[in-house]
Amino acid sequence: MSKYAVLVIDGKEYKLPIINGVEGEKAIDITSLRKKTGYIAFDPSFANTGSCKSSITYMNGEKGILRYRGIPIEQLAKHSSFVETAYLLIKGKLPNNEELIRINVLLNDLSMLHEDMKTFYQNFPSKAHPMGILSAMVNALRSFYPEIVDIEESLDRTFLRLISKVRTMAAMAYKISRGHATIYPSPDYSYCGNFLYMMFENPVIPYKVDPDIEKALNVFWILHADHEQNCSTAAVRVVGSGKANIYATISAGISALWGPLHGGANQEVITMLKKIKNQNLKISDVIKKAKDKNNNFRLMGFGHRVYKTYDPRAKIIKQMCDLILSKNKINDPLLDIALELEETALSDSYFQAKNLYPNIDFYSGLVLRAIGIPTNMFTVMFAIGRLPGWVAQWRENSLDPDIRISRPRQIYMGNSTSDYIPIKERP
Ligand code: SDX
Repeated sequence: MSKYAVLVIDGKEYKLPIINGVEGEKAIDITSLRKKTGYIAFDPSFANTGSCKSSITYMNGEKGILRYRGIPIEQLAKHSSFVETAYLLIKGKLPNNEELIRINVLLNDLSMLHEDMKTFYQNFPSKAHPMGILSAMVNALRSFYPEIVDIEESLDRTFLRLISKVRTMAAMAYKISRGHATIYPSPDYSYCGNFLYMMFENPVIPYKVDPDIEKALNVFWILHADHEQNCSTAAVRVVGSGKANIYATISAGISALWGPLHGGANQEVITMLKKIKNQNLKISDVIKKAKDKNNNFRLMGFGHRVYKTYDPRAKIIKQMCDLILSKNKINDPLLDIALELEETALSDSYFQAKNLYPNIDFYSGLVLRAIGIPTNMFTVMFAIGRLPGWVAQWRENSLDPDIRISRPRQIYMGNSTSDYIPIKERP
């Protein structure tokens, strides 16, 4: 196996070291490229560029493999809890019983919001999107918790504060948007149960946490917890590399996730399915439009930069969908439309040729609908799930001796040098 790649420019050879990953991925180390050759590499959307070495998550897009710290996602979805998986991602190992009890106690201790933060909600317009509220509220946490995190213990406390409070922030935003009294977290529930309680408890009809729904929410957040160097995680690493505080860094991740091509897709899928239903659109016409280069419609929830086969998370979410809907005797017509869309697309040569399959967002919204989460909160649900991944990636980035501030180069294609023209001489 070669140790070097050889680059020949104008007849001169340059040796560039090859890096081998644990699972056989290979990279050409170009950290010395500009110094050696005067050239930079060019890869506008980083599709062929590794930004870091990481030990957190491994994906194999061709085989549909996803593992957190080496453990397959299928096993974690079946046996683990979101809190345990969050610990695994951040600390690199599964917690023992004592550690698990300790973090659950801390998650409860840190679940309340500073009362002054509640006034923030009053100043957002009633129709403000929950993702805008969440990124603002998370950024504001620095103002309320300004202590400098310089020892492991307080870092853990900071991580748990974030993971706990985003859940309270999201539920509070929902209650306030509906004009309902906010419900404070209760130590009587698990992490997921507490979220459901804060969302759906009300003085008139006390909410009873359904264990199957609680399990579904655990699985939902486990599946969203991390995903290598996706758009929002890359944003977290870039912002964190400038040594911005962790709250501002995570707020940047929330903002990056909001985009409809990224975490915002779960909301867009439901919008697409509702449109098909309400306008009685033919599935064949929708597929035809998705293939038409002359319009920018895309089949939302389909395709992925890395997965060129079925997203392993989508498989699990789809099974959950069936379980939750049948258990609650819900007959959601949007599921029938989604199943027909998937079947038609997967048998179409365009989608086959481009290896376009359902990704996690294709069915995730149907599970959230069945739980009773409003559509405009779907990406917030993604963000709560992804938080431990962002924290783990931020921590790994800040501890990596090879990583300096992120600062890509460019190829300039603008005007060559030109002089200033006084306004009276301009055309
Ligand atoms: C997430 O990176 C991650 O890991 C993200 C994520 C995570 O957990 O963090 O997995 C979460 O963001 C999932 C993706 C959610 N987004 C969507 O579902 C939006 C719809 N999907 C597409 O916009 C697209 O597939 C992306 C954005 C997901 C991927 O974009 P790429 O990798 O840049 O691929 P591309 O746009 O270059 O597409 C390649 C070809 C193109 O055709 P050609 O120009 O080669 O002829 O496939 C076509 C595209 O037109 N294509 C689609 C399509 N997705 C790609 N055509 C129709 N419908 C689609 N959904």
